[in-house]
Amino acid sequence: MLGPWVEKYRPQTLDDVVGQKHIVSRLKQYVEEGSMPNLMFTGPAGVGKTTSALALVKSILGEYWRQNFLELNASDARGIETVRTNIKNFCRLKPVGAPFRIIFLDEVDNMTKDAQHALRREMEMYTKTASFILSCNYSSKIIDPIQSRCAIFRFTPIKAEEIADRLKYIAEAEGCQYEDEAITTIVNFAEGDMRKSVNMLQSAASTGSITEDHVFEVVSKAKPQEIKKMVNAALMGDFMKSRDILREVMIMQGTSGEDMVNQIYQDVSSRVMNGQMDGDIYMNLIGAIAETDFRIREGANPRIQLEALLAKFL
Ligand SMILES: Nc1ncnc2c1ncn2[C@@H]1O[C@H](COP(=O)(O)OP(=O)(O)OP(=O)(O)O)[C@@H](O)[C@H]1O
Ligand SMILES: [Mg+2]
Repeated sequence: MLGPWVEKYRPQTLDDVVGQKHIVSRLKQYVEEGSMPNLMFTGPAGVGKTTSALALVKSILGEYWRQNFLELNASDARGIETVRTNIKNFCRLKPVGAPFRIIFLDEVDNMTKDAQHALRREMEMYTKTASFILSCNYSSKIIDPIQSRCAIFRFTPIKAEEIADRLKYIAEAEGCQYEDEAITTIVNFAEGDMRKSVNMLQSAASTGSITEDHVFEVVSKAKPQEIKKMVNAALMGDFMKSRDILREVMIMQGTSGEDMVNQIYQDVSSRVMNGQMDGDIYMNLIGAIAETDFRIREGANPRIQLEALLAKFL
């Protein structure tokens, strides 16, 4: 179990990329044609932008991909000048053993507008020898002249079943036992982010086997059953019991105040949807929950705020 699983299980070819089917099939066309325009990959974190870029580069440039590929982080602390110098030095040389060269620029949305205009000029200058792949989380932060020079690919969060299958595959390859509930819990927390999912899986596995309990421990979230017990006690008028559960969860499991409020909100909402709580009561509570949420974010002591919130449930 050496090294991070996210790297060990990073897909090496386009065929191994999970989900993103439309994108993968368009990228494979570029490989078949042996040429590509400038590309822009946008979308949330951990869904395969960098992975697909690398897989594309390897198959389109072939054996000598390393010599013809430059990877840069656009938000490099050393500034846009370094980025431009690197691009210039790289593009000045002819491609070796490949039809053209590729520059991959990550986090372009963190570049200032001025830097983006400079980048656009580089893109124009080297159209004959190099193609660019730009990666960002928000295409809206990219200036129009760059957007219009790129074919845009919008990556989406990965589907729950696809993440679950991938996690099971990795667990089996690592020879780790897992509970199905543990996988479901990871998938729920990860919200379509494969990197986050694989990292959670590895953390849970490092404590022994991949059980639901271990998953809750590594994400420092309270178990929904415990939140339910705590809310039940408060609604039944047993404030002391409810407060004890609150302390237990926050101290023993290290759940943050913000996560607690969120989980209380989810618990109460599910009660209304299941018809276990009156709409009127809910409307009163939601105001109190919102107030607590705000105060904790503003820096008030979370335990005091949460106890005050439970008191409102009585
Ligand atoms: N579609 C996918 N199929 C399989 N594994 C994936 C996929 N997307 C992400 N992963 C896993 O997550 C890791 C990180 O993915 P990647 O670097 O491609 O994310 P990204 O979309 O570039 O995110 P960011 O916006 O943070 O740069 C990969 O090494 C791989 O283990
Ligand atoms: Mg990336």
